Amino acid sequence: MPFHKRYKNGDTPWEIHRADHNLISMVQKVPIAPCDVLDIGCGTGNNVIWLQQQGFNATGIDCTEIAIQRAREKAGKVKIDSAFYVHDFMGNNVPGAPFEFTFDRGCFHHFLQFNNLNQFAAKVALVLKNQGLWMTMTGNADESREGPGPPQLSARQIVLAVEPYFKIISLIAGHFDTDQEIPAKNWICLMKKR
Ligand SMILES: C[S@@+](CC[C@H](N)C(=O)[O-])C[C@H]1O[C@@H](n2cnc3c(N)ncnc32)[C@H](O)[C@@H]1O
Repeated sequence: MPFHKRYKNGDTPWEIHRADHNLISMVQKVPIAPCDVLDIGCGTGNNVIWLQQQGFNATGIDCTEIAIQRAREKAGKVKIDSAFYVHDFMGNNVPGAPFEFTFDRGCFHHFLQFNNLNQFAAKVALVLKNQGLWMTMTGNADESREGPGPPQLSARQIVLAVEPYFKIISLIAGHFDTDQEIPAKNWICLMKKR
């Protein structure tokens, strides 16, 4: 189902209304100092708002208008001045580029269905400054499940797509932060632009 319908129908199991703890611990442990950051497919802005609150200059883009409307409302409520744009990441002129850090929670893995993981990785490299960082969180194909859930990638699919453009710093099997009973397994990958 297209994303705008999913937001309209409330079929958004990834929504947690807070920053994902995997992002928080990565930023704190590496650490990643405040800088210009882009959240690709930012949804309703939870991670952008948290990053801005930590002193980052955060931009969020999403191709789904209703998600960006909600992100702007959320940011307004906590008096956060982040830049949110309705924008297709694969289109031209990503607003605010180039960045020092890009982040996506559950956007990259959707490009598996279009056989476009490699083009997505190339685009991330294009919007980053030299030595820029990319953190992605994807579904994990090592999880066997029966019901619906995030698209699942193998470690091999991630490596093949990103390695031409990025040096992999870490690739860790973990779980998405969630309010669901059973958290979906994920891959958490941190990379540096070549
Ligand atoms: C699984 S949702 C995750 C949303 C958000 N990152 C979060 O964690 O709550 C994936 C998001 O990617 C967005 N998206 C998908 N393809 C996109 C594209 N080409 N450009 C920008 N956003 C895209 C969708 O609209 C959706 O909001």
